[in-house]
Amino acid sequence: MPHTDAHAHAPQDPHAVGEFWDQRYSDRETLWSGEPNAALVAETHPLRPGRALDVGCGEGADALWLAAAGWTVTALDVSRVALERAARQAELAGITSVHWLQTGLVEAALPHGTFDLVSAQYPALLRTPGNDAERALLDAVAPGGVLLVVHHPAPTGEEASAHGFDAALYVSPTQVAALLDENWLIEVDETRPRHVATGAGAHHTEDVVLRARRLG
Ligand SMILES: C[S@@+](CC[C@H](N)C(=O)[O-])C[C@H]1O[C@@H](n2cnc3c(N)ncnc32)[C@H](O)[C@@H]1O
Repeated sequence: MPHTDAHAHAPQDPHAVGEFWDQRYSDRETLWSGEPNAALVAETHPLRPGRALDVGCGEGADALWLAAAGWTVTALDVSRVALERAARQAELAGITSVHWLQTGLVEAALPHGTFDLVSAQYPALLRTPGNDAERALLDAVAPGGVLLVVHHPAPTGEEASAHGFDAALYVSPTQVAALLDENWLIEVDETRPRHVATGAGAHHTEDVVLRARRLG
């Protein structure tokens, strides 16, 4: 749930991305709200728990909520600091089942078609000419499984220049949707109100929500 400032000086070099996010997390004792994202809760409500992948899991609130709801969770993030916090929260909650991975999404080279749910909540995935991050998200979903990508709406030109933020550098639900072919059914593609009271993302008031099911 980033403030636009969060990415103002984000590096383009994938190797520096982890360090950037470690620094961002280290600036505050807790960066996000500690609550599972509302769009995740709403969109997974009708689903039968299976294997879930949380991409860019941050401090782990979504992964822990999914695990408590019966999902078998793999949660990955580039930030060591974030994952240490997530592991601490897991310990406090007595949840030992989440598989935490410190890696970038693309670098993780996940097995194809494995997860019944792939969730990316406000992921800070850099775009590449080959759409590597988008394809990694799609590839990870099992036949019959669901891909859920949630993000903030793109900032206006004014907001972007005020914060030195270039949204075009990052993967959005729109770019993921553009890669969905006849093997996918788009179940939700909308912008809706968002209410988060605490954490660095509290000022964001809308979510862009894409939920798509892989057919067959
Ligand atoms: C805005 S935060 C969202 C965190 C969490 N999903 C949430 O909703 O609280 C974006 C997260 O993506 C992680 N991240 C950035 N680049 C990544 C990459 N290439 N692969 C995986 N995670 C990445 C960051 O470390 C950060 O934790």
